Amino acid sequence: MGEENKSSNVVWHHATVTRGRREALNNHRSVILWFTGLSGSGKSTLAHAVEERLYKKGCRTFVFDGDNVRHGLCADLGFSNEDRVENIRRVGEMAKLFLEAGVIALTAFISPFRADRARVRSLVPHGEFMEIYCRCPLEVCEKRDVKGLYKRARQGDIKIFTGISSPYQEPEDAELVVETDALTLDESIDEVLALLRERGVISPDV
Ligand code: ADX
Repeated sequence: MGEENKSSNVVWHHATVTRGRREALNNHRSVILWFTGLSGSGKSTLAHAVEERLYKKGCRTFVFDGDNVRHGLCADLGFSNEDRVENIRRVGEMAKLFLEAGVIALTAFISPFRADRARVRSLVPHGEFMEIYCRCPLEVCEKRDVKGLYKRARQGDIKIFTGISSPYQEPEDAELVVETDALTLDESIDEVLALLRERGVISPDV
């Protein structure tokens, strides 16, 4: 019972308000900024801080955050490999819709598997998915342990935890690597904004 069969009688409806028109109205291009990294590596903090900067400059943005999405859209999913794959698939499709909506979509998910990130990349035209690796040593993430989850994972209360008992596959082709343990938040934001200017997503004066 393939998914193709379930939706085979559905016909795409073309919008008259196109992505291009939305982008022109917004005065910036839309793009997916895909933040990936270990739990506690600063993905959400950085994504929200970048959004704050962009908002103040009049850009249309939205942050999808792992912890939040798992309360709703992905509330039925856990942390098995299979569930993580489905989590990222759904978020990828959602981010793609936001791209069509002319929005700068920022996603903050561990997204531990290279293949899943590559699949999302392949959903959208070349250059419109930008992978931002929040690189932070496991020891630092574990020391921060903002949510107390690493401690619980070490104690065996959480059986499959990324970095401890479940793998994280580092990006090999990220558009940007942010060393979140070495940079200040402001410096990290600046790196992301520089990437957006360089790639023509926002104009140089923004
Ligand atoms: S992903 O692997 O599917 O991309 P996602 O980013 O949605 O993960 O969710 C990760 C967040 O869920 C972590 O930041 C952490 O707060 C919480 N979490 C709870 N249990 C786990 C677990 N077993 N492994 C990883 N993260 C967990």
